[in-house]
Amino acid sequence: MRTHRIAAIPGDGIGKEVVAAGLEVLLACAERDGRFALDITHFDWSSERYKKMGAMMPEDGVEMLKKFDAILFGAVGASDVPDHVTLWGLRLAICQALDQYANVRPARVLQGIQSPLRTAGPQDIDWVIIRENSEGEYSGQGGRSHRGFAEEVATEVAIFTRAGVRRIMRFAFDMARSRPRKLLTVVTKSNAQRFGMVLWDEVAREVASDYPDVRWDRMLVDAMTVRMTLHPGSLDTIVATNLHADILSDLAAALTGSIGLAPTANLNPERRFPSMFEPIHGSALDIAGQGIANPLATFWCAAMMLDYLGEAAASSRLMVAIERVTADRSLHTPDLGGMATTRKVTDAMLDAVRGQRLG
Ligand code: NAI
Ligand code: MG
Repeated sequence: MRTHRIAAIPGDGIGKEVVAAGLEVLLACAERDGRFALDITHFDWSSERYKKMGAMMPEDGVEMLKKFDAILFGAVGASDVPDHVTLWGLRLAICQALDQYANVRPARVLQGIQSPLRTAGPQDIDWVIIRENSEGEYSGQGGRSHRGFAEEVATEVAIFTRAGVRRIMRFAFDMARSRPRKLLTVVTKSNAQRFGMVLWDEVAREVASDYPDVRWDRMLVDAMTVRMTLHPGSLDTIVATNLHADILSDLAAALTGSIGLAPTANLNPERRFPSMFEPIHGSALDIAGQGIANPLATFWCAAMMLDYLGEAAASSRLMVAIERVTADRSLHTPDLGGMATTRKVTDAMLDAVRGQRLG
């Protein structure tokens, strides 16, 4: 039997609640399938650890992760640790060191879920947003001088390299090609940002010439928010920079019903390093500890992880189970307007996974 080694990093707040639920569901998927096993290792890397030991994770944390096949991550963020410390100390530290340069964010209106857009149904929003995940506005270049003085200066430099843009464009065109509509929208801001974004556009055009079967267009990021809202059906695969896609994917999450439903995968497409799967949402301190976090984003992450691990059958069974659960309004958590608890949704998922008589 195949065994996949999974590192579980719940992190903070509801990260702990949804990862615990996600692991229960993953184990049930393995059991139901019968052809693979999961060997799960838990890591307590978090803001708690930071407060006790001065670091979110051990110095050799990234090395420890390299021996796993995939990582399931919850979220980080605590009220008494600055957000840039938690984010750079764990999530970005992992994504960058494991060269997870392609961040994939599917956005679809699931069965039984109402989009806040009056007119949008499942056929209108079925997108994959590809976020450049290694450079751009989050490369960590910059600094602060003359701290505390009136002349204090801070820079945050956006980095765009030909190699970095090229690899994400190829990934995006490949993704677009793999989907029925073969349609890609390249998001940019090259009217205002004349260097990095112009290189971004140029490389997009070069790469596009290798994909004559993919239709593609270009959108300024501000106009993109309007198009996502007013003409959602005109979009399919979307590629954007680290910052732009960060923002647009929260909009996409809201348009598909709740941020509690939105999954993401941080991929190292060459598979030199493990990839990491996580819900888009943060630690949601406002609801942490109440047992009402929506675990469905993490279940969807689990399905993406299984697919990535080569367990396509288990992955599609899990997706079917997810939509069985979302179709039942009595299983909606408060973020979806319901009253269900994390436990109730998880139990229903376990039943749906175990009960299925599908291939
Ligand atoms: P958030 O995503 O944690 O929460 C935003 C809103 O959505 C809150 O009202 C929350 O209750 C709700 N929400 C989020 N996930 C939910 C779920 N699964 N079920 C039900 N409701 C859900 O974003 P926020 O409040 O801006 O950030 C909280 C902390 O999380 C901050 O410290 C932030 O830095 C961190 N954060 C971490 C991320 C990560 O680890 N990848 C991503 C985003 C934020
Ligand atoms: Mg975000």
